[in-house]
Amino acid sequence: MKEKLIEKATQILNNNNKGGFTIPSEGLYPFQWNWDSGFIAIGLAHINIELAKKELESLLDAQWENGFVPHIVFHNDSDSYFPGPDFHLSKLHPEASKKYRTTGMTQPPVLGFVLQELYKIAEDKKAILEFIDSIIDKVFKKHTYLYENRDPNNEGLMYIWHNWESGTDNSPIWDEVWSKMKNVPKYTFKRKDTTHIDASQRPSNEEYNNYLHLIEIAKSHNYNEQKIAENSPFLIQDPLFNAMLIASNEALIELYTKLGREENIDQLKAWQSKTIKNFNEKLFDENLGAYIHYDLRNNTHIRKITSSSFAPLFTSAPSTKQLELMQNCYSEKFDTSDLYACASFDPTHQDFNPKKYWRGPVWINLNWIIYKGFLKHDKQKLAEKIKNDSIELIEKFGFYEYFNPHRKLNNSEESNGCGGANFSWSAALLLDILNA
Ligand code: SER
Repeated sequence: MKEKLIEKATQILNNNNKGGFTIPSEGLYPFQWNWDSGFIAIGLAHINIELAKKELESLLDAQWENGFVPHIVFHNDSDSYFPGPDFHLSKLHPEASKKYRTTGMTQPPVLGFVLQELYKIAEDKKAILEFIDSIIDKVFKKHTYLYENRDPNNEGLMYIWHNWESGTDNSPIWDEVWSKMKNVPKYTFKRKDTTHIDASQRPSNEEYNNYLHLIEIAKSHNYNEQKIAENSPFLIQDPLFNAMLIASNEALIELYTKLGREENIDQLKAWQSKTIKNFNEKLFDENLGAYIHYDLRNNTHIRKITSSSFAPLFTSAPSTKQLELMQNCYSEKFDTSDLYACASFDPTHQDFNPKKYWRGPVWINLNWIIYKGFLKHDKQKLAEKIKNDSIELIEKFGFYEYFNPHRKLNNSEESNGCGGANFSWSAALLLDILNA
């Protein structure tokens, strides 16, 4: 069974490789995505470390002069995706990549810890350290960009200005922001995603109006961060985005130390202590027992629990008390006998939808983060459970983009597999889990 899964995962990554970079899923996502490439590199490292290096190099080849790393790199043309490069128009920003067209938004900063994973997986430690040495400053520059541009209150907590920057596109978290957003135009556009995937598993057209509106606002300011921070109706401190930053800061400190290069370590440590302090004070909700989102534009917390609420397990940030509260919350709501772990949204909440993208389905990348998080904090049983559920879902239903968490479906004809098939990070992270 294990050999078969490894073979199939390898085949998917090979098929989705477009020469130096890997697309997430044929047709649905035909370009290079930022955090996808990070997770994909971890899987590739188990098959062919050179491909893993290329994956990261090709992403960072599109880094902007100011350090920004965009969420999509349009290496190639494709008419199977909307909105494409002509909509995003990254060239509006004076420091955008001159070599590639990209988007003007980013995604959770995973690259720091991805480099660390590559170090752990690689057999030739000397060679991988040389590679890390060649690329680590670009990742540090990206962190510098975030700290200098995404933290207007100097809290060490980064904002995101678009739901796509969270990676959790249509989470019920954003419903609260949409309900406060005024004068959203009704755009004329042609969805491409719903030609590949059943609309019941994707965001609504109304939501797409909001998504496009936020991009139009950013474009009207030529993607200038300061103006976006002043004007965007969407300005959120997201626990997943900030947890990934903390994990990557941690990794960069370790890697620079391994390289014997001291120059950026003090800066990283200063950022890290400010970030962790405010992360725990501001984004942890003691009553819910989990990390939650903060809406900077409307000055309010969003008190709903998602799988992002548990992403901080992946870091050393949570205190013992916070770990205990999180474990209780997770066990009570997300780890029940009728569900595969881990639903992307609170299964006890009325907004939960088991098939609709980030409104409930299980995602393998969040499972991997939470699995590693439980291991880090010596919660072997919980780690084992989420690992086994991830393997079972893929083995039974295929390498899907996301999965209906219900163990028993009402309609026996239906499959738990949802969204794009042969999905790259499901393949990549399963390889990592199976090789652990
Ligand atoms: N995930 C988004 C989409 O569905 C973009 O990042 O297009």
